[in-house]
Amino acid sequence: MQLQCSNHECRHDLDRDFAAFECPKCGDLLEMSNNGFRPDPRRLRALWRERRLSNAPADRSGVWRFREFLPQYLDESIVTLGEGNTPLLAGEKSADYAGVSRLQFKHLGWNPTGSFKDLGMTVGVTEARRRGASVVACASTGNTAASMAAYAARAGMSARVYLPKGKLSRAKVAQSFDYGAEVIEIDGNFDDALAHMMQRKDSREYFLNSINPFRIEGQKTTMFELMEQLDWNPPDFVVVPGGNLGNSSAFGKALKELHSAGFISKVPRIVVVQAAGANPLVQTVASGAQSLTVVANPNTCATAIQIGSPRSWRKALHVLSFTKGIVLDVNDEEILEAKRIIGRDGIGCEPASATTLAGICRLRQRGAIERDAHVVAILTGHVLKDPDIILKMHEGKAVWKADS
Ligand code: F0G
Repeated sequence: MQLQCSNHECRHDLDRDFAAFECPKCGDLLEMSNNGFRPDPRRLRALWRERRLSNAPADRSGVWRFREFLPQYLDESIVTLGEGNTPLLAGEKSADYAGVSRLQFKHLGWNPTGSFKDLGMTVGVTEARRRGASVVACASTGNTAASMAAYAARAGMSARVYLPKGKLSRAKVAQSFDYGAEVIEIDGNFDDALAHMMQRKDSREYFLNSINPFRIEGQKTTMFELMEQLDWNPPDFVVVPGGNLGNSSAFGKALKELHSAGFISKVPRIVVVQAAGANPLVQTVASGAQSLTVVANPNTCATAIQIGSPRSWRKALHVLSFTKGIVLDVNDEEILEAKRIIGRDGIGCEPASATTLAGICRLRQRGAIERDAHVVAILTGHVLKDPDIILKMHEGKAVWKADS
């Protein structure tokens, strides 16, 4: 696998070891390319299934199980915490609420550190080690930081996380401390923290934000695992929250690869849901998509996606066009109500993940999703990622009983 510019008009090829994340020719983000890879779908599907019976760490991982489509490493060099292998759960109350008959949740919050970030981080940190990095760094609304800190600890590296002070869940900050990260708080929002980190240019730091193309490769496997769980019959819609837009980009890349290699015969439509107070992609599409419309002061209760200037916006636009996708936004009230309903299905998630159900409701009301459509919503973070917001929603509701 090589690096390549993700801009379809440029497609500049670069060596896998190229140090920067942007194309030296056009400035767009890079991605991994696997030109000339012609797998046999029947053989690989059988092999991937077989690996589930193995006890080897690389086979047990829900990411590395699909390693034919990932950058190559020696099995023993892989940094894994047994990520992936997350369930696909029917959500009956949620389906009733949204008015669709077939709704399933793929819960990526059931990963080792409680969010989908682990799927990318196992590849990102493995690559960091291959490059001889001793310090890994990221800016984060909390989940990337927690995940990076855990995988760095496994790999014996130092982790440095740049967090927007007071603008993220305390539970996530606690996780970063627990895995031994150095926590640097930035006055400002996520976009400021990312800009600060990139400007510092400490050459010892290897960046692990989702502009890192190796992370995107790991996050692709959500689609591989989902299609396998559906016996390779794609749903009509895959609904995903949008923040920095790395995950939507990864899903689109995976679907493109699976479709062109003959693993799936149709491509599900990707629905990206943003919070109304942090909706740069919605605004960008509305304005004709020539340049990114930045949201200067992003504000939402879903702090994980409180992002005004997403780096992967061009990749996400491409995914929308390739999958005939949809982007929309939902307000905080809708997010919290959807979160409550997902909880009633016994599933639970953090606020950012609940944008999916809120988005499905909206699209159903608009008639953009039919009642009998097969919809899969991607839940990105565990319910315990943000306990404060739950306690606030239910303040004063606990029943106090005196000793009798
Ligand atoms: N859901 C959760 C729970 C997240 O933590 C994030 C992003 C997203 C959705 C959006 O994903 O950025 O790929 O579009 N969290 C990042 C972080 C920004 O720092 O943890 P995206």
